[in-house]
Amino acid sequence: MNKPKLVVIGSLNMDIVVETDRYPQVGETLLGRSVRFIPGGKGANQAVAAARLGAETAMIGAVGDDSFGDDLLRSLQQDGVDISGVKRAAGSATGIASIYVAEGDNSIVVVPGANYLVEPADIDRNEAKLREADIVLLQLEIPIETVVHAAKKAKQLGKTVVLNPAPAQPLPDELFSCIDYLTPNRTELAEYTGMNTVGIHLEAAMRRMKDMGAAHVVTTLGADGSAFLGADGTMRFINSYRVPVVDTTGAGDCYNAGLALSIASGGSLDQAVAYASLASAVAVTKFGAQTGMPTADEVQQFSRQYSAGGEQQ
Ligand code: RIB
Repeated sequence: MNKPKLVVIGSLNMDIVVETDRYPQVGETLLGRSVRFIPGGKGANQAVAAARLGAETAMIGAVGDDSFGDDLLRSLQQDGVDISGVKRAAGSATGIASIYVAEGDNSIVVVPGANYLVEPADIDRNEAKLREADIVLLQLEIPIETVVHAAKKAKQLGKTVVLNPAPAQPLPDELFSCIDYLTPNRTELAEYTGMNTVGIHLEAAMRRMKDMGAAHVVTTLGADGSAFLGADGTMRFINSYRVPVVDTTGAGDCYNAGLALSIASGGSLDQAVAYASLASAVAVTKFGAQTGMPTADEVQQFSRQYSAGGEQQ
């Protein structure tokens, strides 16, 4: 059977991950427990996850001409991602993310570097990749102008477009009508709609987002699972899995890759959300963004274990 084809357009970062017992106060110096350099960036994370889950994956983005750029490209290649659409921006630094992992959560500061040099012309140069794709997957760690151009172009070519609107930022109205699947988390949904997204208010906020033009809206809710507006307009929920959480960095990226892969394979939205939930449940049991992305076999094994008596929250 042919593999589904995904093109991921987005960021590549080197994640500098510091583990501490707690977050530092303003002005305080703390001793950390460890530091690791782990390939990350929402775009590259989604590309690696899609490839490990079984998609033929191509990445469009940019790295600098430094050693982090070499490391990130090598790492993508090792996972079988086509990197011919990733440009090397001369004289620029590769994007980095400074990540603290503490108290069972993380906080991240991204310095975009070369990611902000991904231009509409880079999308045009890689049009052949878009033509071949089943799905084009986007996030917001490259210039908005490029995201809008890519989404419009993908739509003109008749492709299914998934936008993970993270990190949240002002978006032009014209973007929403190009989006088939919009996947904010609860906080992003609140920022985009200006509405309360807790409890009974969640559905109204998701409907508002759909009214803005996106064909389907899927909201990730962390430990509370995810919610989605089905094709028939009904609101549905899927629970998360009760797993030992090691690190949630990149879990949303894994979710988006799983969702896109499943849709590209012909799955219904219900099936895609179920698969994305399984994949991201495995991702949080491992440390790091790309280091934590599961293979299709690992997801299948977890699914079997769960059916044989695992717990869904
Ligand atoms: O979604 C997680 C990612 O966000 C990290 O890998 C980091 O690079 C930031 O882009």
